[in-house]
Amino acid sequence: MAKTVLKIFALLVVLVIVGIQFWRPDFSNPPVTAGHRIGEVHVLPENVERVLKTSCADCHSNESRYPWYSNIAPLSWGIHDHIRVGRDELNFSEWKEYSKRKRLRKLEEICEEVESGNMPHYQYLWLHPEAEMDESKTKMLCQWTEELSEEIEGGSK
Ligand code: HEC
Repeated sequence: MAKTVLKIFALLVVLVIVGIQFWRPDFSNPPVTAGHRIGEVHVLPENVERVLKTSCADCHSNESRYPWYSNIAPLSWGIHDHIRVGRDELNFSEWKEYSKRKRLRKLEEICEEVESGNMPHYQYLWLHPEAEMDESKTKMLCQWTEELSEEIEGGSK
């Protein structure tokens, strides 16, 4: 009897796992408009560009890379949500559309988020150890946000 109950339970678990695979978030990246990327609006130092690409772009650009496990529910739901909310907060592919004020605010937040260790998200780091921010990367990024802010405040861009 107990064995049958267990078998039914196992079958139900399998059915649920298979069933939820049909709720598939749309993972297609929104289009990238030429000239709108942050690296096309400002001249980015190479090391800054590399860090933004390795540690932030998967959630903060329209050029997210999707690993194989991003297709597996329920993981896919969480990943999709992070990317959706992340892009909403900050999208390096749409930088050109940001006003001067918004750019300045976002630059300030970038340094704050990285310095406080909030970004990149810790769950992301479990599977992307290369995205980890150390002290020197953090310093470099904050120095860049300060310099660019000064440039934006002083210039016409
Ligand atoms: C796994 C996805 C992911 C990665 C990788 C990631 N972020 Fe985020 N980011 C988010 C999400 C989701 C939010 C929305 C707020 C939250 O959940 O904390 C966010 C919010 C932000 C915000 C706005 C915070 C505010 O004050 O409203 C900034 C700035 C930011 N991220 C910068 C970065 C930077 C810089 C990197 C790279 C060093 C990075 N993020 C990497 C997902 C990510």
